[in-house]
Amino acid sequence: MDSFKITGPSKISGTVEISGSKNAALPIMVATIARPGVYEVSNVPDLRDTRTMIKLIEIIGGIISSSNNTLKIDTRSCNNPNAPYDLVKTMRASFYVLGPLLSRFQKASVSLPGGCAWGPRPVDFHLKAFEQMGAEVVLKNGYIQATGKLSGTDIIFKVSSVGATGNVLMGCFNLNSQLRIKNAAMEPEITDLCHFLVKMGLKIDGIGTKNLIIYPNDSKSSINIKHTIIPDRIEAGTFIAATVITKSRLTLKNIIISDIKKVLDSFIDIGLKILDSTENSMTIDFSGEIKKLNVTTNVFPGFPTDMQPQWTSVMCLSNGESMMEDTIYQDRFSHIPELIRLGANIKLNKNVVTINGVDKLKAADVMCTDLRAGAALILAALAAEGITNVSRIYHVDRGYENFESKLKGLGVEISRISS
Ligand code: UD1
Repeated sequence: MDSFKITGPSKISGTVEISGSKNAALPIMVATIARPGVYEVSNVPDLRDTRTMIKLIEIIGGIISSSNNTLKIDTRSCNNPNAPYDLVKTMRASFYVLGPLLSRFQKASVSLPGGCAWGPRPVDFHLKAFEQMGAEVVLKNGYIQATGKLSGTDIIFKVSSVGATGNVLMGCFNLNSQLRIKNAAMEPEITDLCHFLVKMGLKIDGIGTKNLIIYPNDSKSSINIKHTIIPDRIEAGTFIAATVITKSRLTLKNIIISDIKKVLDSFIDIGLKILDSTENSMTIDFSGEIKKLNVTTNVFPGFPTDMQPQWTSVMCLSNGESMMEDTIYQDRFSHIPELIRLGANIKLNKNVVTINGVDKLKAADVMCTDLRAGAALILAALAAEGITNVSRIYHVDRGYENFESKLKGLGVEISRISS
């Protein structure tokens, strides 16, 4: 298992090009199964997760070629509506395949995803919605077996869910009556998916809002379309955090500022300065004390749970006591004991972390337990004095394209140790 060796404290400088969004790319890739066609999807990050999704689409019968972050996906010959355990267990987002398979084949067998590094992450909203749309859903030998032609209805999510909203949307090809989703997720990745589905032939009202209406359609004939994935707002947020924790200056390119507004505003509140910005790039600078700030995660446009661990790392070096509350996931704190190993002063009580800023972090051996926890440890290692070994970085490889070469390009002393 590979690890990173990072020598700190680091300064960063220069320009970083943010990659395409993992969480937008995954559903968009799998959506192509819903309607036979030839799709060209660009700005797809080359990651462990997107490679897993390629394998899954190939198992279903799709033909994929990849070059320079552009995928050509031909789903005209898809014929196998089964998603095996081996793939679904490595990536929960594989469960997104249920909607497209039901749309296209009126049947699907998809392994139930297993547990997760941050506690139970059920898929009950997905299943209940498909039942409401007319599918018969049974669990057999660990697989969800769903059959039936989906039809329009009113789906009301009691909690906004990115995955369930995306899955239902991808189940909406060939509806014979109108479907409404209330309390739909409004995350930019869902908006990007909606734009893609519109290109694929769905008529959707309310894109970017909590209320979506999808109209009856007949989407059986083959199509040919192109799409470019939006930039990864969490990667952008992580590089902003790197700028703050190392008290540096950085230019970020290929970003959508409106998608990172809450994160950016929070960093501005603790002392970040924007020196220059356009719609898709900005130069930021941090110097002086990191001010303490309480933050609570929330659904978009709130502060994303996917930035909670990275923010916590930054607060470890703030000028006082701050709290970080995660309202989306109650149990996403496996980075805390590792940050404490680096000298952080943190207490965890249920889903609330109390962080007392310290003057310095000190190098230690630490271990990634999930993707964003890994990012948080790498950030802390940038600031820590000495050589930090961050092990189990396969979690980080799932979601950050060329992380170490991007950091190296900005001046960080980082190397990958393969074992
Ligand atoms: C997606 C993101 C993940 C992010 C999360 C929240 C992808 C591939 N992953 O995950 O990075 O952290 O959104 O922004 O895009 N819930 C249920 N039952 C369900 C579904 C969800 O109880 O059937 C709960 C979850 O436990 C959680 C909340 O709803 O408390 C939101 O989860 P959801 O938005 O569905 O997260 P994911 O789509 O799994």
